[in-house]
Amino acid sequence: MNYLPVIRTSFFLVVPTFLFLLFLPAPHANAADESVARKLIDHSCSNCHRFEGEAKSRFELRAPDLMWAGVKFQRPWLVRWLMGKEDNVYQKNYRWDISQTPINHPALTKEQAEAMADYFEKHLQDPRVKKDAIDLSQFTELHAQFGRELFKKHSCTGCHQIMEDDEKLGGPQSVAFFNTGKRLNKDWIYRFNSNPPDFVPHSGEFVADVSGLGLYYITGFLATEGDPDFQYYEPWKSEHFQNASTERGATIYKEYCAQCHGAEGKGDGPAASGLDPKPAVHSELPLNIYPEDYLYNVIYYGGKAVGKSPYMPYWGLTLGDQGVADVIAYLRETFKGN
Ligand code: HEC
Ligand code: HEC
Ligand code: HEC
Repeated sequence: MNYLPVIRTSFFLVVPTFLFLLFLPAPHANAADESVARKLIDHSCSNCHRFEGEAKSRFELRAPDLMWAGVKFQRPWLVRWLMGKEDNVYQKNYRWDISQTPINHPALTKEQAEAMADYFEKHLQDPRVKKDAIDLSQFTELHAQFGRELFKKHSCTGCHQIMEDDEKLGGPQSVAFFNTGKRLNKDWIYRFNSNPPDFVPHSGEFVADVSGLGLYYITGFLATEGDPDFQYYEPWKSEHFQNASTERGATIYKEYCAQCHGAEGKGDGPAASGLDPKPAVHSELPLNIYPEDYLYNVIYYGGKAVGKSPYMPYWGLTLGDQGVADVIAYLRETFKGN
């Protein structure tokens, strides 16, 4: 009999709590937030930006197109940008033909900026941008360096600035690429780079002769630039190295390396007489204590990739990761210096 009142109280507590939970707002993109974003777009943003329609020349626009904003930006950057907490992207003004002073962009509150980011994610998708169109799970630090070199070689620095040795490098005509690893979505960069005029026609943009691996390197470089948290892949820590076989490595050495480095690693293979610089004399080198990443990079990507002679070929495509791991195991076992 004693416990009845207890049951009654909890009943009266439980029902109101349950009703209250029913009416709690959902954490994301509820109707109220969406109307906040919609109102801002209609009354402010649309004065300068477009949120629908076909891509147009910047000389007919007042600000970058945002039709694909839901797949272009990384959310934390976007929210900070909208709150006025990020540097200008166009250091000489988007419309440099009218003014070369960077604009003072309108700033939103945190709540408004979050609501806007939700709105972008929900409504400003672009079917041309495929999720995980580029896979960076095996992107290495050397790949980023290749991308940086290609970026300069293909004149990208003519119009886009990057940081090099703590200094700005390049012409500030278009978007600055100091922090693209934190600003842009990798899949959007990949699709953009595949054909820039699809997004910015008649705007001074440039179509480069880059495809395949080059496109992967340049896109990966931009997608990781200025992001200290990006975890580069380290192939020499992969299972291929745990499973490496000295025996298989010895066969590879005979079939592929001896033609230059000589059967005993004395640098006296048949090709050596015509080469300068000469093939390294492995028999005199303590390859057992050479850093693993250096050996991997010089063998997989060739002499040029590590600042040595291009006479040392890149073997990655011929031998694959397992072959490179095997021949390294053989080198380490066989050549320990004098
Ligand atoms: C007065 C014109 C103007 C208004 C109003 C305006 N913007 Fe902008 N916006 C710009 C310009 C110009 C840039 C390029 C910024 C630069 O120079 O770095 C820009 C850049 C942006 C970017 C980055 C684009 C990119 O490609 O990197 C986003 C996102 C953005 N604006 C969203 C908004 C939103 C959301 C609103 C409404 C709350 C808004 N803007 C209102 C002119 C405007
Ligand atoms: C002759 C000048 C020029 C050169 C060279 C150039 N670009 Fe651009 N790039 C532009 C213009 C203009 C835009 C469009 C910016 C706009 O109008 O919003 C652009 C935009 C971009 C964007 C989108 C950036 C953003 O945040 O909206 C990427 C990515 C890009 N370029 C990559 C490259 C790469 C990679 C190269 C070298 C292969 C390159 N660009 C060479 C002029 C150039
Ligand atoms: C076409 C000739 C040629 C072939 C084939 C060749 N190499 Fe080389 N290799 C060179 C040359 C030349 C150098 C010296 C580059 C320099 O000093 O700039 C070199 C350097 C090296 C080095 C760097 C040594 C150091 O001290 O930095 C290693 C390691 C190496 N080769 C391993 C191999 C392996 C393993 C193979 C077979 C899979 C191979 N090489 C096949 C020409 C060749």
